[in-house]
Amino acid sequence: MNFMRTIFWDGCVKLIDQTKLPDKLEILECKKVEDLVRAIKNLSIRGAPALEAAGAYGIALSAFEKDFDNVEDLKEHIRQTANILSSTRPTAVNLFYGIERTLKKALQGESIEKIRQLALKEAEKIADEDVERNKTMGSYGAKLIEDGDTILTICNTGRLATVDWGTALGVIRSAIEEGKNVRVVVCETRPLNQGSRLTAWELIQDGIEVTLITDNMAGIVMQKGMVDKVFVGADRIVKDAVFNKIGTYTLAILAREHKIPFYVVAPLTTFDWNKRAKDIEIEERDKDELIYCHVKCKQSLIAPKDVEVFNPAFDATPINYVSAIVTEKGIIFPPYDENVPKYLHNI
Ligand code: MRU
Repeated sequence: MNFMRTIFWDGCVKLIDQTKLPDKLEILECKKVEDLVRAIKNLSIRGAPALEAAGAYGIALSAFEKDFDNVEDLKEHIRQTANILSSTRPTAVNLFYGIERTLKKALQGESIEKIRQLALKEAEKIADEDVERNKTMGSYGAKLIEDGDTILTICNTGRLATVDWGTALGVIRSAIEEGKNVRVVVCETRPLNQGSRLTAWELIQDGIEVTLITDNMAGIVMQKGMVDKVFVGADRIVKDAVFNKIGTYTLAILAREHKIPFYVVAPLTTFDWNKRAKDIEIEERDKDELIYCHVKCKQSLIAPKDVEVFNPAFDATPINYVSAIVTEKGIIFPPYDENVPKYLHNI
């Protein structure tokens, strides 16, 4: 099935509003950087590679969003925008990559027109590259999937988490495109349900067999032999850990206990190899996400209003739990200390 891109440029930034799914497929128009900032913070656009494109388009948008008296005013404005966009969400490193790469390119321009042109062209390039690398990761990763496999996944790593196709879900799509019969078990991914709202929706759209479970059912499905492999995405990969959606660490431990391979799929822009887990900020989100049944309309309490809440959006899985990392340059196997730098040298 043909699917529109998750985020694209059409005179301004347009994106699929993921807070509305699976109820409605709606496009959100961001005419000002502040609209895009809001969209990133409230997860209308989310997922590390989609955030990379959002950061890039955000810089382009800032160059077009108003009139400028001179080149220096415009340059100052896009530098400020880079800071604002960088403060939206702390964990996915791709966001910063998209912002910095586009900013650097735009600042090479010597006229208002040229800066606008350079920024938009770079953002479009970043978006196109994402689609291409996801397809490449898909064909590498599909080699890890056998006909008849059932794959467990968490969060949303599909078209909606990227510009198109997906990372972990992209690998599953590619395996199916190659003619393999693959089923998916998806964890609902509390508290914001990216698994049930987005992954289940995407897979049903594509006619891929999917079974939804709550996060705390992952143990029983592995124990009952209902899962052959786990595939997840990543928000940041550092020397000793993979940061991904909260609950990923639990899946990695369960997978090891049940001798199930645990694979991570991520582009090279997700690596932050000079850092360690202790250096990375894990985003903590609003307590309302845990105490209301429907966080947007603050209806139906599911916990006492005054209860203390801890709501980290990500966790760090020690890298030695990871069986392999699928990238657009190939599959990286342990020992990662030795092998990852060989793949990173040209980015
Ligand atoms: O909070 P989110 O929805 O932005 O978190 C997204 C994830 O954790 C994904 O698994 C990750 O970005 C990899 S997606 C290709």
